Amino acid sequence: MPAATYDDIADWYDDSVRAPGSLAEQVAAHVLTLCGDVAGQPLCDLACGQGLVARSLARRGAKVTGIDLSARLLQIAREYEQREALGIVYQRADAQSLDGIDDATFEGVTCSLALMDIPDLSATFRAVHRVLRPAGWFVFSITHPCFQLPRPTASDPEAGGYFREGFWHSDYPHGVRGRVGAYHRTLSTYLNALAAAGLILQHLVEPPPEGEGPGDTPVPKFLIARCRRALQ
Ligand SMILES: C[S@@+](CC[C@H](N)C(=O)[O-])C[C@H]1O[C@@H](n2cnc3c(N)ncnc32)[C@H](O)[C@@H]1O
Repeated sequence: MPAATYDDIADWYDDSVRAPGSLAEQVAAHVLTLCGDVAGQPLCDLACGQGLVARSLARRGAKVTGIDLSARLLQIAREYEQREALGIVYQRADAQSLDGIDDATFEGVTCSLALMDIPDLSATFRAVHRVLRPAGWFVFSITHPCFQLPRPTASDPEAGGYFREGFWHSDYPHGVRGRVGAYHRTLSTYLNALAAAGLILQHLVEPPPEGEGPGDTPVPKFLIARCRRALQ
């Protein structure tokens, strides 16, 4: 069965983000910390989904454009904007090109928990570099590629492991990755693609997991990074 799209799961995804202490919320808190003071800055929340990070940035005084590919998630995001007017503009575009967005539009770009959904990582980083102003910043979060690994599945027992990059689909049907799948990449692929696109890594956070049971080996589930656009 082909993976669902975010349009298919948009209402479920909105509910899961709104659940108290959701993973998206936990990760967004780290993203916001790495953004620092954003008051007055023109920012893009890339792959904004239902607008969780976009709204937090706008409440901190940023002028936010939320961009996503899913028409239904954008519709949900606009409904939040109607209930609480924060001045966020939502726009449908593909992160891999950001067609329709002028060069050097934003002081900063955030992208939370979405690079695993996007097939062409290098094109996405190049598009981020293009829409950033000189010395602009880029903060992103991903599931930790060293610890959130594809596993062999009933349909593909050969699949899995750290070194096998590509699209995979979790056997667990109730989470995001069981519904829409994900692209697995090694850490070096992420870091080399950033460097090739002219995005300089400044700071990396690997938060300890919350609520591990006794005997669990604590490993980070997420990785959050802040980069700066190279000047050239
Ligand atoms: C796991 S959700 C994260 C949403 C939001 N950033 C959050 O933290 O809740 C991944 C998002 O990436 C979006 N997405 C996937 N591929 C995309 C693309 N090529 N361009 C723009 N958005 C994309 C999906 O529509 C979805 O909203």
